[in-house]
Amino acid sequence: MTADHGRRFEGQVALITGASRGIGLAVAQRLVDEGARVVVTARKPDGLADAVAQLGAENAIAVAGRADDAEHRAEAIATAIREYGSLDVLVNNTGINPAYGKLADIDEAAARKIMDVNVLAALLWTRQAVAAGLGRERPGTVVNMASVAGLAPAPGIAYYGVSKAALIGLTYQLAAELAPNIRVNAIAPAVVKTKFAEALYSDDEAAAAAQYPLQRLGVPEDIGAAAAFLASSDSGWITGQVLVVDGGGGLRASL
Ligand SMILES: NC(=O)c1ccc[n+]([C@@H]2O[C@H](COP(=O)([O-])OP(=O)(O)OC[C@H]3O[C@@H](n4cnc5c(N)ncnc54)[C@H](OP(=O)(O)O)[C@@H]3O)[C@@H](O)[C@H]2O)c1
Repeated sequence: MTADHGRRFEGQVALITGASRGIGLAVAQRLVDEGARVVVTARKPDGLADAVAQLGAENAIAVAGRADDAEHRAEAIATAIREYGSLDVLVNNTGINPAYGKLADIDEAAARKIMDVNVLAALLWTRQAVAAGLGRERPGTVVNMASVAGLAPAPGIAYYGVSKAALIGLTYQLAAELAPNIRVNAIAPAVVKTKFAEALYSDDEAAAAAQYPLQRLGVPEDIGAAAAFLASSDSGWITGQVLVVDGGGGLRASL
């Protein structure tokens, strides 16, 4: 446990999808540091085993599967309730981008897969969690991992950006429908140093970092802290919002 973190999630249970590495693992770590017990998901059991070793076997359980698989979702949610007794926080973090280029060139099957995993699965995770009791006996929170690519045109990752814009729309709609017992917010990160984004900065990290007023790229812990805020009662009067975490990148146009 990190000494200067609070204990905002003492006695709470969180489920974080796509959490064997990168942003999802940092979110899980932050919630565990603050007292939560977590269920983490990803496709590959090996990566999940490493994640559980890092988080501590007393704090974390892994359930392997695809985010867009209904049986996997049901198993992960049931595991949280069976093993830890409740589900208080859902972080829809899984996101994929198997297609680069312009919308004009997007492969149709890839486009469908992106929407299935990045958008529809987030809705279905949320619905299944609500059906299983999220927000029923005490307040619940949902945090969706969007992207700055969902807020403005995103050269090279066009359809991924469209999917993140849809995830932001989903966030607004779910926030309206699930209030007052469940708050639903999104995070829109710019480039964060993970395997997913490596190609965007690995050639020249210093040049990539110089694009941001805060002069560095994001690290997964930056997003872990933002997610913990939105999942905690510190954001108790905030729902249906998108928290941009971008090192000031959005200011570039006005500099
Ligand atoms: N990194 C950035 O710059 C950045 C910026 C904005 C938004 N984001 C968003 O942040 C989220 C996390 O990205 P990241 O950068 O942390 O990626 P990452 O380091 O590649 O981690 C992705 C995680 O998701 C799992 N995963 C991938 N596909 C999955 C699927 N279909 N079903 C279940 N789990 C799956 C991976 O494990 P397995 O491979 O074992 O499945 C891994 O645990 C994504 O939604 C991404 O769009 C990232």
